[in-house]
Amino acid sequence: MSCNDKVILVTGGSSGIGAAIAIKFAAHGTKVAIVGRNETKLKNVSEECERSGSKPLVIIADVAKEVDANRAVRDTIAHFGKINVLVNNAGIGGNSSIMANDTMTVFDRIMSVNLRAAVYITHLTVPYLIETKGNIINVSSIAATCVLSKGDYAYCTSKAALDHFSRCIALELAPKGVRVNTVNPGPVKTDFVENMGTLNAYSDDVWEKLKTIMPLKRIGNSEEIADLVIFVASDNAGSVTGSSFFSDNGSLVRGAFE
Ligand SMILES: NC(=O)c1ccc[n+]([C@@H]2O[C@H](COP(=O)([O-])OP(=O)(O)OC[C@H]3O[C@@H](n4cnc5c(N)ncnc54)[C@H](OP(=O)(O)O)[C@@H]3O)[C@@H](O)[C@H]2O)c1
Repeated sequence: MSCNDKVILVTGGSSGIGAAIAIKFAAHGTKVAIVGRNETKLKNVSEECERSGSKPLVIIADVAKEVDANRAVRDTIAHFGKINVLVNNAGIGGNSSIMANDTMTVFDRIMSVNLRAAVYITHLTVPYLIETKGNIINVSSIAATCVLSKGDYAYCTSKAALDHFSRCIALELAPKGVRVNTVNPGPVKTDFVENMGTLNAYSDDVWEKLKTIMPLKRIGNSEEIADLVIFVASDNAGSVTGSSFFSDNGSLVRGAFE
């Protein structure tokens, strides 16, 4: 993509995959707005973007709150005047059983960030994307198409819904020249597990074990997910809409009996 004159809004830009997306786009000269709640992490990513080539607009906001989501889009437009690419990347995990007392609490918390916030920010951003003939990338997961493990029903359901939402609006927005796609990572070492709160961070042993069960014997990293996002956002992917791009080291083709 010729990135110099483009503006990208990245939710969950304070950490992991979203941070890598922001930094890579900044290095391409794109004007970047990053959204998250953690001020310290946002500041670190902002400094990294600036070192890479472009100072981002930092927006401290909880995407699950409509008032914050509104402010994020409004501030991006006030600062940069337009939006070319929206990356709905903010996401959380969480475990619960369908038989547990906290089932609906966990379900609502995950859906409010992983699905509802993406739908609402898309709704707010679409008028600007129509103006720029821009595009949307929703950061989903392999969990959209497979069951990760017992207790992950809310997360898996949120990502399956995010994929189908993306296809539905890809059809609606195609006549307006706006493309919509998803990027679906497999395991990537980020702060995701720590941020789930209920679990301790994966130890290095767990990450090493994960590598051994991947067909490619490796796990992903945030930078390669960001590279895929850059391609899907670019004019080189001008014919691509309503598609999902998996970067998962082959985890979806693991044999059921291996
Ligand atoms: N890591 C993996 O293995 C993996 C695999 C497949 C898919 N994914 C997806 O990739 C995306 C990024 O995850 P990650 O691995 O980079 O995890 P991460 O390091 O925990 O990053 C999650 C990001 O989402 C933001 N976020 C969460 N809730 C938010 C809220 N209410 N308002 C604003 N921002 C919020 C966090 O920002 P603050 O904490 O600053 O609010 C953070 O920037 C998620 O959608 C996740 O589902 C990850």
